[in-house]
Amino acid sequence: MNLSGNTVFIPGSTSGIGLALALELQARGNTVIVGGRRAESLARIAAEYPGIDTVQIDTADPASIASAAKQVLAGHPGLNVLVTMAGVMQVEDWRDPAAFLTSAETTVTTNLLGPIRLIAAFVEHLRAQPDATIMTVSSGLAFTPFKPTPSYNASKAAIHMLSESIRLQLADTSVRIVELEPPAVRTTLLPGLEENESAMPLDEFITEVVGLLEAEPDAKEIQVERVKFLRYGEARGDYDQVVEAINGHAAQGN
Ligand SMILES: NC(=O)c1ccc[n+]([C@@H]2O[C@H](COP(=O)([O-])OP(=O)(O)OC[C@H]3O[C@@H](n4cnc5c(N)ncnc54)[C@H](OP(=O)(O)O)[C@@H]3O)[C@@H](O)[C@H]2O)c1
Repeated sequence: MNLSGNTVFIPGSTSGIGLALALELQARGNTVIVGGRRAESLARIAAEYPGIDTVQIDTADPASIASAAKQVLAGHPGLNVLVTMAGVMQVEDWRDPAAFLTSAETTVTTNLLGPIRLIAAFVEHLRAQPDATIMTVSSGLAFTPFKPTPSYNASKAAIHMLSESIRLQLADTSVRIVELEPPAVRTTLLPGLEENESAMPLDEFITEVVGLLEAEPDAKEIQVERVKFLRYGEARGDYDQVVEAINGHAAQGN
């Protein structure tokens, strides 16, 4: 994707990676629409960053997606980039249904059904644009399991395969599918992650991502160096060691 002159909707950009990407894209000459559930965050972002438009959206709710899509397209008929950023990550204990079922349902609804419904709401519009992009957001954990978050890992693996598959179906259209595959990045996605020194600082991550988008406008997957350890374990043949490295002795456990 070209890095300027786009109109970009990022549902899931009231904080973290989405907000940092929104600000970087705006600084590079794109029109950006920030989306999320938190009205107070949307109001603060609109006040702090003139030119950024905001739309309230709950991507776990089909009716909210439909009304937000209508609002975004009415205000921005030239929209040509959708970034399906919204996501949740929750710790679960799969030995006890009471400790995982609700979380698993929320995770799949937000992280998988959300992007599916968003793409359904925007794909016809995007196909009518001369040059359009859908950026999906998976994770290094789509490729290596992190023991505490089974549903999250599975939802991101599904996003990876969905991205691979719909890229084939949309190959002869104007719509490109780009999958962003973050490693651990310091955000509030999970308690303690923002302070975790082994996670990548958010500003460094965004700088590397934008550099990759710039260097390879046709890239299918955006992989910063740090994610390659998780992304390519199976291809390298050291998958078991990678699983062990991120899960410690826990990987051997029950
Ligand atoms: N940080 C990492 O280590 C990491 C690694 C790999 C992948 N990722 C992915 O990157 C994406 C952004 O995460 P982040 O790290 O930036 O965490 P974050 O700061 O918690 O951001 C999550 C964003 O998703 C939005 N969101 C969550 N549920 C939503 C819903 N039902 N409807 C609309 N928006 C919703 C939140 O906005 P509201 O609360 O305002 O709705 C927020 O803007 C996620 O898909 C995550 O899985 C992150």
